[in-house]
Amino acid sequence: MKTARIHEYGDSSVIRYDAVPRPRPRPAFGEVLVQVAATSFNPTEAALRAGMLQAFFPVDLPYTLGWDLAGTVAEIGAGAEGFAVGDRVIGRLDSGGAAAQYVRAPAAALVAAPASIPLAHAAALPVAGLTAWQAVFEHGKVTAGQRVLVNGAGGGVGGFVTQLAKHAGAEVIVTASPRSTQAVVRQGADQVIDYTAGPVSAALDAPVDTLLNLVPLSPSDAAALAPLVRPGGRIVSIATPIEPAADAGVSAIHMVARNDVAHLAALVEFVDAGALGIDISESRPLADLADVHRRSEAGQNRGKIIITP
Ligand SMILES: NC(=O)c1ccc[n+]([C@@H]2O[C@H](COP(=O)([O-])OP(=O)(O)OC[C@H]3O[C@@H](n4cnc5c(N)ncnc54)[C@H](OP(=O)(O)O)[C@@H]3O)[C@@H](O)[C@H]2O)c1
Repeated sequence: MKTARIHEYGDSSVIRYDAVPRPRPRPAFGEVLVQVAATSFNPTEAALRAGMLQAFFPVDLPYTLGWDLAGTVAEIGAGAEGFAVGDRVIGRLDSGGAAAQYVRAPAAALVAAPASIPLAHAAALPVAGLTAWQAVFEHGKVTAGQRVLVNGAGGGVGGFVTQLAKHAGAEVIVTASPRSTQAVVRQGADQVIDYTAGPVSAALDAPVDTLLNLVPLSPSDAAALAPLVRPGGRIVSIATPIEPAADAGVSAIHMVARNDVAHLAALVEFVDAGALGIDISESRPLADLADVHRRSEAGQNRGKIIITP
């Protein structure tokens, strides 16, 4: 079967398209074999590929990329429960492997795929959706009537964050550049600030209750965002930590999303209820994965990109 793997850390050219034997579920691990419909690109995987995560996320090389999985169960291993051959599933695979035609996956990490959208599109959901869910509800504690600023709404996580914050009943102000304006408005943004046109603070008429930061920032850009939150408010960052002034009375957290099948199942319910749209900006074949990595590092990607084998 075809895979996209790295044998060494480096720039996007280290991604190789290797043919390897199809894996089998390992009996002691409660695994199933899944025929992959799609994985999706997440920029953190580009950081892994570059070797930037070695200290806290060591992997064995060669490493098959692909944390997001959408596919069809093809084989049930001993001890794997809850699924039958032919079931459509999604999951976040913490040891990767979905950038391939088949992958073995722990059954416990999978949930039924949304029924209302094409299976391959659902590959956009696990990593970005879980991150958004936990940022909005768990750490941001976004509730009705709050003013929320989403910095970086044009990205893969941002599309879900805007929709979930709107679902919670918040007034949602987002930053996006012109290429993403239509998408963020479709996702429910009440106000769009073009971050390429000047400082965000100049376009904001009053402080916000919650700042959800979804982009890596320079120290000066991070420092400029902190005062936009009112005393008693909250800052959640999934990228660069943002530190409020000591006397600002603002709480701040730098979060790392965890794999949680209950949250993933809740996201699937939202999708099937029509409460959460999945906005696929591009669908690319596996052989283009290195190009998708390269473009991400050049700032040329937007929204969610799915990768089909
Ligand atoms: N902590 C965690 O658990 C966790 C989980 C997932 C991701 N992450 C990290 O979170 C970040 C976002 O992930 P993602 O998948 O959403 O990335 P992504 O899809 O690659 O995000 C790209 C978007 O970032 C926007 N952007 C870039 N610079 C910006 C700026 N200065 N201000 C506002 N928007 C800006 C661009 O929006 P426009 O199109 O509007 O220009 C672009 O579309 C990445 O750094 C990723 O590694 C962390």
